[in-house]
Amino acid sequence: MKIRVVVLISGSGSNLQALIDATASADFPAQIVAVISNKADAYGLVRAQNSGIPTELLDHKTFASREEFDTALQNKIDSYEPDLVVLAGFMRILTFQFVNHYLGRMLNIHPSLLPLYPGLHTHRRALEAGDATHGATVHFVTAELDGGPAVVQADVPVEKGDTEDLLAKRVLIQEHRIYPLAVRWFAEGNLAFRDGKAWYKGNVIPPHGIKVN
Ligand code: GRF
Repeated sequence: MKIRVVVLISGSGSNLQALIDATASADFPAQIVAVISNKADAYGLVRAQNSGIPTELLDHKTFASREEFDTALQNKIDSYEPDLVVLAGFMRILTFQFVNHYLGRMLNIHPSLLPLYPGLHTHRRALEAGDATHGATVHFVTAELDGGPAVVQADVPVEKGDTEDLLAKRVLIQEHRIYPLAVRWFAEGNLAFRDGKAWYKGNVIPPHGIKVN
């Protein structure tokens, strides 16, 4: 039995595409049952439709408050009875209530070596700091923005002459590797969230996540 995954997006959806591609393998233990976007023009919606995955649009601007939007979003997600919710470039701050509802069964991907650079403009900040190494992290979502326990992390060396765009492109390549991996681990029952920590095969995952470089 494959686990049921709902993916939330706001944009291009290249991470969604990586997950769609992974689920195309018969032995991949998860299936995407719906893709939900808060933006009508998110290209990820087209990617989902091209693969025959049901899509939903829930425009946050049509709701009076963050609470009302999150409640509607939660109802929409739950109508698909997911085992796992995957945030893939979903650019919304989530309410405590929403995060709590999915605690331990919601993952996010962030383009930095968390705990470095939570929030926006991570590539610019890594370049400005003169970091030799940048990267990406998959983590469980908790109430703290980009602060939940790390699951898996990939390093990306910063190169001479790097720009935000060049670095972002190389980080994305790693994102597309590590997100399907984390979803696979969760689906196989090897990845879990307990006592505020991430666990892999019964062991606490170290603060920086499992390194896959
Ligand atoms: C990725 O860099 C992801 O880490 C961040 O937003 C970006 C989404 O890209 N949260 P895409 O929509 O998956 O192409």
